[in-house]
Amino acid sequence: MDAQCNILVTADGVYRGDKLINLKKIASEALDRCKESSASSVQKCVVVKHPAFITSSDASSSLQTPWDELCDIWWDDLMDGVSDECEPEWMDSEDPLFILYTSGSTGKPKGVVHTVTGYMLYTSLTFKYVFDYHHDDVYWCTADIGWITGHSYITYGPLANGATSVLFEGVPVHPHVGRLWEIIEKYGVSKFYTAPTAIRLLMKYGKEPLQRYDLSSLRVLGTVGEPINPEAWLWYYDVVGQQRCPVIDTFWQTETGGHVLTPLPAATPLKPGSATCPFFGVQPAILNEHGEELEGEAEGYLVFRKPWPGIMRGVFGNQERFESTYFRKFPGFYVTGDGCRRDKDGYYWITGRIDDMLNVSGHLLSTAEVESALSEHPSVAEAAVVSRPHAVKGECLYCFITLKDQQEFNRTLMDELKRKVREKIGPIATPDFIQNAPGLPKTRSGKIMRRVLRQIARNEKELGDLSTLADPKVVEVLFSQRCEAAA
Ligand code: WTA
Repeated sequence: MDAQCNILVTADGVYRGDKLINLKKIASEALDRCKESSASSVQKCVVVKHPAFITSSDASSSLQTPWDELCDIWWDDLMDGVSDECEPEWMDSEDPLFILYTSGSTGKPKGVVHTVTGYMLYTSLTFKYVFDYHHDDVYWCTADIGWITGHSYITYGPLANGATSVLFEGVPVHPHVGRLWEIIEKYGVSKFYTAPTAIRLLMKYGKEPLQRYDLSSLRVLGTVGEPINPEAWLWYYDVVGQQRCPVIDTFWQTETGGHVLTPLPAATPLKPGSATCPFFGVQPAILNEHGEELEGEAEGYLVFRKPWPGIMRGVFGNQERFESTYFRKFPGFYVTGDGCRRDKDGYYWITGRIDDMLNVSGHLLSTAEVESALSEHPSVAEAAVVSRPHAVKGECLYCFITLKDQQEFNRTLMDELKRKVREKIGPIATPDFIQNAPGLPKTRSGKIMRRVLRQIARNEKELGDLSTLADPKVVEVLFSQRCEAAA
């Protein structure tokens, strides 16, 4: 509805590991909700039959694809008898190419707008140099095609270069934990791009699953989506790349369109955990809270001074939000929302989000978004969500729940809360920890002190200055009842 789209394209179903997901049912439920609103513009839903369900009638019948004769149409029926020649539509270089939604710190996702030429030029160029692309390469990016990494580095960048790519639908450990290594051997993958969360997951199974496969085709290993801890970096370099392949830690965002801080293979000396240096034409700076630019070794807000071709052109339908989110805090700069350190050699080290966002398995979530889903539960009076470090996911969600009077905090409630978040946002946002919080630490003006909640979640006893709290006693209570184990 926000994008005012007319046509929805979906598939009947997909498999995630061995789990069957009825995608059309989810799409139909969303369309029903749209229809309840007069603002809905969707007229048609085009449904692609997933190959797995064409061949297997068992799976197909278990899907029971819901169907609305007025709105739904099968892709195959639509394409039946259509000419296989299609004249290109000539576009202006600044015409919009797509809108991709990303979490916003106020809760409502933002529709990031990219344009035809700038975005394609930038993804094409970064793909070529950052992966040191050559025509005999076999390239594989394991990202989901629906996220920005899949847009830029499965679709546009590789296709613009005519690259041979592996497309993969599945999860890294199904049907066995050597799945990724098996595919690398099978297709002779030379350039491989994945996320720290996948590396940490696979590290848990040790070296043995890799030793069963021939990985000698590999030449460059890329990583994206969240800070990579040096331990995972070294495992990627030593075990996966057998110390032959540079690890390319690419820092970028949905908003930047393509890589902005990244090493170039064999050209940039590497440091485990650092996204190293800016890509051609990108001008990073580090500012302090007052907007003063810091020189040399420093830590602060990561900003960019000048635009590059692939930078977003706006938030769809909301110019004010575009300006206030990215340009108002520090006039004259694009604000990433990430913290960053520069070392004595001028290398950049991303320290993570410094707004109310968190990064779970490489997916950006806003705490406000999760809080609002939790607060929809009828028993909940108030919810506050913070991040807590997690061995595989990088960060996970720790939720504090204040119940309405007479409501009981129990297992059923916890399950209902988890379900609520899964439905509203998605499985990736499922809370790991849910704590009953009779009260929340607030300032006298009523603002929740998230810093204190983060410290409780992380069991950090040095709480620092609590003098602005309206009732410091709540902190003791919350500490005494903190969750040790995941819910
Ligand atoms: C984080 C994903 C450290 C960062 C392409 C950023 C990273 C957010 C890295 C964007 C990296 C991405 N090192 N942090 N190499 N890459 N991030 O929009 O916090 O889904 O702001 O784009 O992910 O997430 P998004």
